[in-house]
Amino acid sequence: MTSPPPVLMNDFKAQWADVGKEVLATTARVGESGWLILGKEVEAFEEAFSRYAGLPEVIGFGNCLDATEMALRALQITPGSAVLTTPLTAFATTLAIIRAGGHPVYIDVDASGQMDLALARDFLEKNPAARTAVPVHLFGHSGDLAALGTLRDDFELALVEDCAQAVGATSRGIPTGSIGQIAATSFYPTKNLGCYGDGGAAFTQDPALAALLRSLRDYGQTEKYVHSHIGGNSRLDELQAAILHDALLPRLPAATARRRAIAAAYREGITHPAIAIPPAPAGSESVYHLFPTLISGVGRESLAAHLREAGIGTGVHYPILMPDQPAMKNVPHTLGSPLTTAKQFAREELSLPIHPYLDDASVSRVIDTCNCWPT
Ligand SMILES: Cc1ncc(COP(=O)(O)O)c(C=O)c1O
Repeated sequence: MTSPPPVLMNDFKAQWADVGKEVLATTARVGESGWLILGKEVEAFEEAFSRYAGLPEVIGFGNCLDATEMALRALQITPGSAVLTTPLTAFATTLAIIRAGGHPVYIDVDASGQMDLALARDFLEKNPAARTAVPVHLFGHSGDLAALGTLRDDFELALVEDCAQAVGATSRGIPTGSIGQIAATSFYPTKNLGCYGDGGAAFTQDPALAALLRSLRDYGQTEKYVHSHIGGNSRLDELQAAILHDALLPRLPAATARRRAIAAAYREGITHPAIAIPPAPAGSESVYHLFPTLISGVGRESLAAHLREAGIGTGVHYPILMPDQPAMKNVPHTLGSPLTTAKQFAREELSLPIHPYLDDASVSRVIDTCNCWPT
């Protein structure tokens, strides 16, 4: 008897079978154009993505880390100033804060894994000097944007939303990325809108900030050989922009619908008492970049091994909280609250496969294998 095909966390071969022809045609077009950096393709993608995201200005970057760092620098955070953020994220979020000269302040997460806005408010009330925050819309959820907007107004926050995992997610109809003065996202291949290499973007509604970000991504140039700012080199290239525009962005609505259908099937079908599914934040129209579960008791390694034996991949997001990372040992930072829930995620979280090329048979296999896990 042949064993069924593996169920992968991401299936880039299936993606290539779907988009490969368009990617090759696009590659030929860019090559024939003779223009490779900051040209018509980047402009066309920025425009199309701005329409999709519902935000007026999109600025393509080389990756989300750089976009977040440049966003903080564009908002002129003072060196050493406190930046509230989450301990449960990819290290890039923390790295961007440090590289921009900020002092990370870690606030615990809520039951959905997002920075707890009530705890953030407590910290801000007690620490009037703290005026900057980088919340992350984790797992493809949107944090509560109405509450985030109120926090921004009450404390006059400089706010950069990390939307790397939440492209297209909304909160009661409000798009993620529209509450911060600037937001950043990633086109890393595993992301909901991933490209064929590295890529990222910043969003803003403020034309002056958009102009500054366009300059910062390009050595701080404001016109040829005139450098008005200390910028960097982080430009989304013409090839990635063209691939995103022609092959990947047009598929994003269907891919998001598929992710939502899989998430609904998991929520309904997984009934094992030791597998808890964290709630989405109230009002979130999530895009399910990941599908987190929390495994207590016997431990997530046992379920991961059980799924692995059945040919099903899993992931852990994230096993080590940001303040516990070895690189943070000598970097000044503050725990802005006890990190009780974040520690629970670090200990118990196990992500199940969720991607647009997962067929119904694979989804059923994941559900059945979870439900027959012997604990
Ligand atoms: C929440 C979050 N922020 C930032 C990043 C960094 O993105 P990039 O690899 O494009 O710099 C990632 C990607 O891993 C992420 O998941």
